[in-house]
Amino acid sequence: MKKKIGLGLLVALVVIQFVRPTRNSSASESLNDISKFYDVPDEVHAVLKKSCYDCHSNNTVYPWYTNIQPAGLWLQSHVNDGKEELNFSEFGAYDQKRAKHKFEEIGEVVGEAEMPLSSYTLIHRDAKLTSEQSSAIAAWASALK
Ligand code: HEC
Repeated sequence: MKKKIGLGLLVALVVIQFVRPTRNSSASESLNDISKFYDVPDEVHAVLKKSCYDCHSNNTVYPWYTNIQPAGLWLQSHVNDGKEELNFSEFGAYDQKRAKHKFEEIGEVVGEAEMPLSSYTLIHRDAKLTSEQSSAIAAWASALK
């Protein structure tokens, strides 16, 4: 009995490797990127790109384990959920009310250290915000909200 369960799990693990979620990689330049519509200082943009764009833009830099399931599927679900909440590549298309609300939320999540997700910074250590970086983002977002 134990052997059968083990084998079943092994088969499931092999089968799941064939699942290939669609990648979040846009070939074209994002015309609606936030930096084209709002004043984003270079230092702030660099931090957003490094710490947020993997889940909140149209282009994710995928790590090596993307092709190992279920890790890749879990990662892709974060990207999909993150993008739905906030997409810096499409930010220019947000109406004013939505944009202002997002600026307010950005200040909140950064202030409370909710973002970037801790499961992400565990692996992407350099994406973790220093206190200077979170203050810079919070100040920038608060001026626009
Ligand atoms: C590993 C993926 C990931 C990274 C990196 C990431 N986020 Fe998120 N973010 C999410 C997901 C998933 C959600 C939606 C679910 C949730 O709120 O937890 C979200 C939601 C949000 C929201 C919506 C507000 C809310 O309260 O839910 C804001 C604002 C946000 N993120 C800002 C940021 C900022 C700013 C950064 C960079 C400093 C960042 N995120 C980095 C995945 C990520």
